[in-house]
Amino acid sequence: MAIQAPATRPANPRFSSGPCAKIPGFELSQLADAALGRSHRAKIGKDKLKAAIETTREILGIPADYRIGIVPASDTGAVEMAMWSLLGARKATMVAWESFGAGWVTDVVKQLKIDAEVKTAEYGEIVDFATLDFDTDVVFTWNGTTSGVRLPNGDAIPADRQGLTICDATSAAFAQDLPWEKLDVTTFSWQKVLGGEAAHGILVLGPRAVERLESYTPAWPLPKIFRMTKGGKLIEGIFVGETINTPSMLCVEDYLVALDWAKSVGGLKGLQDRADANAGAIWDFCAARDWIDNLAVDPATRSNTSVCLKFTDARITDGAAFAKAVQKRLEAEGVALDVGAYRDAPAGLRIWCGGTVETADIAAMLPWLEWAYQSEIAALTEAA
Ligand SMILES: Cc1ncc(COP(=O)(O)O)c(C=O)c1O
Repeated sequence: MAIQAPATRPANPRFSSGPCAKIPGFELSQLADAALGRSHRAKIGKDKLKAAIETTREILGIPADYRIGIVPASDTGAVEMAMWSLLGARKATMVAWESFGAGWVTDVVKQLKIDAEVKTAEYGEIVDFATLDFDTDVVFTWNGTTSGVRLPNGDAIPADRQGLTICDATSAAFAQDLPWEKLDVTTFSWQKVLGGEAAHGILVLGPRAVERLESYTPAWPLPKIFRMTKGGKLIEGIFVGETINTPSMLCVEDYLVALDWAKSVGGLKGLQDRADANAGAIWDFCAARDWIDNLAVDPATRSNTSVCLKFTDARITDGAAFAKAVQKRLEAEGVALDVGAYRDAPAGLRIWCGGTVETADIAAMLPWLEWAYQSEIAALTEAA
C-alpha cells in the first residue's frame, strides 16, 4: 500500500554537512565586487583579506590579542599546520569520538610519531574531559560532525594548564559558544556553518600558542605551506591578510558576503538561535516517535549543527540498507539532499542544521522523513 506523500516540499532541500547550504537568498551576483584578476597583495586584495579576518573576530568575539590567519587547505590545512608546528614539545593527548578526531589521532601517532595518550569514545558518546591531563598538549574536535556529539562547554579545561589546547571547531564555529580563553588553537573552514566555499581555512592562535611557536622548533621539516615563523619570530603578516600563498579572491568575497549576512541575522547569537531552532525541530520530531532517535546519547552533547539520527525500529534487520533506502527516497523526491550518515559512522541519517538552513525547510522536510520511513517499513513487511 502506497503511503500518502506530504503536500509541501522544502523550498531548499540542501542539508549537506559540508559544503553546507549557502546563505538564504544567495545569488552569484552578490559576488560582483570580488577583486578578480587583481593581486591579493594589492591594496584591494589585502583590504578584503583583512576585513575577512577582522569581521570574523567581531562576530565570534575573538579576543584582540588572538591572531587570526587565513590558511590553505580548508580546516584540514589549519589543523595540520597547527599540529606539525606546535606538537612535540611535550607529551600529547589525542581525543576522538568520531572519524575526524580519529584522523588527527592517526596524524600524530602514525605520521608525527609523538608520545601521545589516545582517548576515544564510541559514536554517540563523548570522552570525559575531566579525565584529561591538560599539562600535555590536548587535541580534540569541538563538534564531532560525523557523530553529532559536541562538547557542551570548556569548563573542564583549566585556566592554568601547562599544555596547549588545539581544537578543531569547524562544525561549531558560528553556531556554538567557544571559550576562547580555554582554546590556544582553534580552526575552522568557510565551507561549514556560514555556507562559504571550501579550500580556505581559518587558524586562530592564542598568546600561548604564539609563545610556543617562537620558543620551539619541531624536529621534523616543515613545508612552506605550514611555516608560521621566520628566524624564531612569528610571521605577523599572515595574521593581517598576507597569506602564505594565493587565496581565491572569489571565495574571499563569498566569505565577506556570508559574514555580512551573519551580522544581519544578529551575529553569533542570531546564528546560534537559528541552529538551535533547526535542531530543536528535529529533536521534537524524534521525541514524538519511537522509531528514530539521536545518535548522541547524552542530550547535553547533542549537536545543533550536524544532527545525527539512528532508526530504532526493531523490525529493521539491515540498518545500513534501510537508512540508505530512506536517504535515496528523500533524494529522489528532491526533499533532502546529502543526508546519509558519514561513511565511517553508524547507519542512519545526518541533517545539517547550521544557521544558513531555514527552520521552515526543516519543518517541511520532516513529514517527508516520516513518509520515507513508513514507505520503507511497508516495503519490508510486504516482502516478509
Ligand atoms: C570535524 C571536522 N574536521 C575536519 C573536517 C575536514 O574539513 P575540510 O574538508 O574543510 O578540510 C571536517 C569536514 O567535514 C569536519 O567535520
